[in-house]
Amino acid sequence: MDTLGVVMNGVTGRMGYRQHLVRSVLAINEQGGVELSDGRRVTLRPVLVGRSAAKLEAIAARHGIPDWTTDLGAALADDRNAVYFDAQITNARIGAVTRAIEAGKHVYTEKPTAENLDDAVALARAAREAGVKNGVVADKLFLPGLLKLRRLIDGGFFGRILSVRGEFGYWVFEGDWQPAQRPSWNYRAEDGGGIVLDMFPHWAYVLENLFGRIEAVTARAVTHVEERVDEHGRPYKVTAADAAYAIFELAGGVVAQINSSWAVRVNRDELVEFQVDGTHGSAVAGLRRCRVQHRSATPMPVWNPDLPVTEPFREQWQEVPDNAEFGNGFKTQWEMFVRHVVEDAPFPYDLASGARGVQLAELGLRSSAEGVRVEVPGAGA
Ligand SMILES: NC(=O)c1ccc[n+]([C@@H]2O[C@H](COP(=O)([O-])OP(=O)(O)OC[C@H]3O[C@@H](n4cnc5c(N)ncnc54)[C@H](O)[C@@H]3O)[C@@H](O)[C@H]2O)c1
Repeated sequence: MDTLGVVMNGVTGRMGYRQHLVRSVLAINEQGGVELSDGRRVTLRPVLVGRSAAKLEAIAARHGIPDWTTDLGAALADDRNAVYFDAQITNARIGAVTRAIEAGKHVYTEKPTAENLDDAVALARAAREAGVKNGVVADKLFLPGLLKLRRLIDGGFFGRILSVRGEFGYWVFEGDWQPAQRPSWNYRAEDGGGIVLDMFPHWAYVLENLFGRIEAVTARAVTHVEERVDEHGRPYKVTAADAAYAIFELAGGVVAQINSSWAVRVNRDELVEFQVDGTHGSAVAGLRRCRVQHRSATPMPVWNPDLPVTEPFREQWQEVPDNAEFGNGFKTQWEMFVRHVVEDAPFPYDLASGARGVQLAELGLRSSAEGVRVEVPGAGA
């Protein structure tokens, strides 16, 4: 059995620990590794890297992981480590990933790949010039709801797709009378926070992979909750947007409108939902569920405010069956990346696509600041 050494930076964080270390890398090893096309299997040897020896040691002990260090340079200098993975706070990413590329490592990273387009493009270019494999997390595409949506698109269910309406968000507590459920850096622009930089990279790969290239963006980013309380109980000023209301114009005339908010209370079935309307049918896809209404089953409501609602609209939709076992999306993408590294299997979510995500965030912020519609120039890297 082959073993791939993976340097994992940021494993003390929410995403790095739960989704990437426990639910992906350790879960892959528990299932006996990643199966390659010739039947061989590859297991992963995580090397935990971070700033706090105590925290790393505790995680390593909890999971029986022998290798951890606070010395990134030493981990990168070790020839047994072929891959570098980064789930650090966003503004720490560019420096560490650049070092990994310079050390000749294949790199896999959380999004956003950088805080601005210049850095994101430089990173993509550096990886290409160094000839290292590179990938960016695109987890939303692997959600069961979106996999079913993809199936509908591939099966021609929609006819011509007209529009997409996305609703993402939930109430993030301010941190005073109840603890905040997200880290405080998310609300400080100077620390790489803000909902635009956080969520537009997701919308970029979701839209371009499912519906088409993004040609223009009009966005309004706002800070609704202006003061919050951090992890240490200290009040701080919110310097980044906590909500963004955006219209994305896609190739082929599809209009996608997506609200992203950490200052909204949920009256939906799931924390994110996309409604897709096409000439032949419509669908509402969430994290797990997907429901459809075909043109043949579309009711004919008549606007009349004098009468009570005549139709049970929500009940008129049909559930799309799973028809498959959906594993953890982060793990699925890790398996894809390992196959990409070991046997050159395709992996479309590279640093260039990550740069398009950062570009969309940058253009969205510009649109909001200037109050204008912004066209998306060439894809960058
Ligand atoms: N794919 C997704 O759905 C998704 C969801 C949430 C976050 N993310 C991304 O994952 C990354 C990590 O987010 P998170 O929510 O896990 O954050 P977190 O605050 O929980 O974890 C941050 C990690 O970075 C490390 N770090 C390194 N330098 C730091 C510094 N100077 N200050 C603070 N922490 C530092 C921390 O030790 C920790 O391990 C971010 O880039 C974020 O955009 C992705």
